[in-house]
Amino acid sequence: MLSEDELSGIFTTKIESNERFYFSKLTTSELRVPVNGNKFFNKHFAIVGSTGSGKSHTVAKVIQEAVNQKNSDYSGLNNSHIVIFDIHGEYEQAFPDANNLNASNLLLPYWMLNGDELEQLFLDTGDRNNYNQSSVLRKIITENKKKHNPSIDKIHFDSPLKFDIEEVYNCLFNFQNETYNFKSPDRYMIRGHEGAYTGANSISESDGLLLNPESRIETYFSQAHEFIPSRNSNVNKGLYADGTLDKFIERLDNKIKNSRLDFLFGVRSRDASFEETIKQFIGFQTEGQANVTIINLGRIPFEVLSISVSLISRILFDFGYFFNKILSTGQKTDTPILLLYEEAHIYVPKSDLLKFKSSKIAIERIAKEGRKYGVTLGIVSQRPSEISETIFSQCNNFIAMRLTNPEDQNYVKRLLPDTLGNLTETLPTLQSGEALLIGESIVLPSLVKIDRCDPEPKSSDIEYFEIWKEQWKNVNFESIMDAWKH
Ligand SMILES: Nc1ncnc2c1ncn2[C@@H]1O[C@H](COP(=O)(O)OP(=O)(O)O)[C@@H](O)[C@H]1O
Ligand SMILES: [Mg+2]
Repeated sequence: MLSEDELSGIFTTKIESNERFYFSKLTTSELRVPVNGNKFFNKHFAIVGSTGSGKSHTVAKVIQEAVNQKNSDYSGLNNSHIVIFDIHGEYEQAFPDANNLNASNLLLPYWMLNGDELEQLFLDTGDRNNYNQSSVLRKIITENKKKHNPSIDKIHFDSPLKFDIEEVYNCLFNFQNETYNFKSPDRYMIRGHEGAYTGANSISESDGLLLNPESRIETYFSQAHEFIPSRNSNVNKGLYADGTLDKFIERLDNKIKNSRLDFLFGVRSRDASFEETIKQFIGFQTEGQANVTIINLGRIPFEVLSISVSLISRILFDFGYFFNKILSTGQKTDTPILLLYEEAHIYVPKSDLLKFKSSKIAIERIAKEGRKYGVTLGIVSQRPSEISETIFSQCNNFIAMRLTNPEDQNYVKRLLPDTLGNLTETLPTLQSGEALLIGESIVLPSLVKIDRCDPEPKSSDIEYFEIWKEQWKNVNFESIMDAWKH
């Protein structure tokens, strides 16, 4: 019943012109719908919809608009910092100027992992010796951090300080294999230090290498030693000879030698500085700055996906946190960051399964506290009902696209105000690219059509019918096999 002008008046009255951010128009008319750009980005937002409803295109549009906004006609980049966790490798195509990280160029130093992440990585939860393994791991890593950071006073297991994983491996190996002199238990029977003992004669109190707790761990870090076997009398097996550490050591060895985990354990990551690591994530790398950083998680092995996402999220949150600390009172960060998670149900599921634990903790923390430090979340998911409620309850703006699963529909309806009435009934019938836009940033909940993005993300829509109609094509099996094996 309203004229276009009246309608336009309603949508723009409460939003100052400099705060108006446009990426859609009403489905019922040509009216462009503004959201309040500050309110949209300074609180967490969610984009939900079944597969094919248009989520990825919406992400691309919203971010393309954000990086194009400028408050005057300066040249070069604006000051936006956006990190996209891209599991399907869709976004590189939509952001030609982005900084692209993937398993082959990402720097994610293992020494920055916190205690939980290290345990998740190295310990087998099904192993009944898990508790012992965990205490050994904690002790050795803490000692090794002390060794490599002598100028720092208080060092604990979680301190983000360098340590040497090879030395940790050596030490565990030595614990597993050590033997000592029964007549003089502080003497360790390391080959080359056995003294007069040959195995043929009997052991004396002066055989073996005399070590105190400090020199023992130091000696054990230095290399994997060979020990005199305990077959002979008076050469005894050490504390961990019972097999407690066996599986754990095997796991550790497999991990650090696995070339697919080079982004964690390779030389580049091991030697990377703290600063360099952070800079790559927010576009401050020296070889070209960028507003958008795309982290392509496609080639990251599933077993380390959660800890990788957790570590990156935590680094970015901590960056915001410490940035805030150096500001004077009343001053606000001038580098706010948006973290966008595609298929977020993978990293922050409702499930309490241990394999999701780290990423869930890290992202929930940002959901609860990130806003204060200029770190906001964009949560994208086709299964909203499977996402941690902590996350959704902290979202202030929603772009709800077509949702076909009744469970997901109901879940989303519950999150929305009752006053929306039958607007939510339209969720299952929306066209691709149509959305219900709701939240603090918009004057009225509205049904909108999201503008087309340009360029588009890599589409998962394949035009079967068109392709099938074409003449038979040959397949380059060799290159496929090459890619597969790599
Ligand atoms: N705003 C839009 N307008 C028109 N079509 C769209 C729009 N957004 C997406 N589509 C179409 O919908 C299809 C699925 O989009 P996509 O973003 O890949 O969905 P999702 O990420 O939810 O699976 C694409 O082929 C795209 O062409
Ligand atoms: Mg998608």
